[in-house]
Amino acid sequence: MTGIRAAVLQAVEHTAAAHPVVGIVPTMGALHPGHASLLQAARESSDVVIASVFVNPLQFDDPTDYQLYPRQLETDMQMLTEHGVDCVFAPDLQEMYPGYPAAPLIRVSTGELGRRWEGASRPGHFDGVATVVTKLFTILAPPAAVACEAWFGQKDAEQLAVIRRLVEDLNLPVRIRSLPNVRDENGVALSSRNLRLSAADYDAACALSRALFTLAARAQAHQPLDLSQLRAQLQAAQRLDLDYLVVVDPDTMQETADDPLRQPALALIAARVGPVRLIDTMELCPGAAPTG
Ligand code: PAF
Repeated sequence: MTGIRAAVLQAVEHTAAAHPVVGIVPTMGALHPGHASLLQAARESSDVVIASVFVNPLQFDDPTDYQLYPRQLETDMQMLTEHGVDCVFAPDLQEMYPGYPAAPLIRVSTGELGRRWEGASRPGHFDGVATVVTKLFTILAPPAAVACEAWFGQKDAEQLAVIRRLVEDLNLPVRIRSLPNVRDENGVALSSRNLRLSAADYDAACALSRALFTLAARAQAHQPLDLSQLRAQLQAAQRLDLDYLVVVDPDTMQETADDPLRQPALALIAARVGPVRLIDTMELCPGAAPTG
């Protein structure tokens, strides 16, 4: 850990910028073009870019999911180098959580915000995310005189809302930046977990983003969203076990009562597809074309 702090400080000292900005891109590895867009944005708007690669056990409620989460540090390092990352923090378990699995005793509590949707289905997930993100910011954040930004994808919309509140409530000196979802040619949101989908699972997964695009088109046209019809279609689909499809307020994550929508909102979806749990998000803007 001293090593990474020293490397960050050295990289900051070596920039020519009068007011350097440090950009942090926290990841769990198995990097894909969604991560690449975060790395690129961080590179363009910061003088020093730091990426972390750590599969955080605290945010997994299912030990098998944790064990099977893809790990490919060598390949990841290639992408990080190609994107000009200055420092990579890829700690092992004992470095992050000395004494693990007995530790840590103290964790960040995300309250009711962390118990909605994904948090309800995966108890403790957002507390685990908030704990590791707090630790990463503490370890990686530069001296107070240096501006620090951290980059997250909008696919994990609840995670983003939790991290924004974390930074606000704990006065963490980090500005949170975000980028829209990156999708493949069939509209499927990129995720490290997609690596575990068979061809048939992948076909089933396409139905998730299709449902979100349908909602975005209905919102755009000021039509009723008719969530129950879409839920019924997804519930009838093979290989797919729908957990939730909801339309929520982007800050509170509470379900919106509007139908048709009068305000921009977020559609959140989660389902088990074959062996993995997938989530996706889309911004719904009455009168505007779909984004994300
Ligand atoms: O989004 C992720 O990859 C993880 O939840 C994060 C933010 C790196 C924390 O482990």
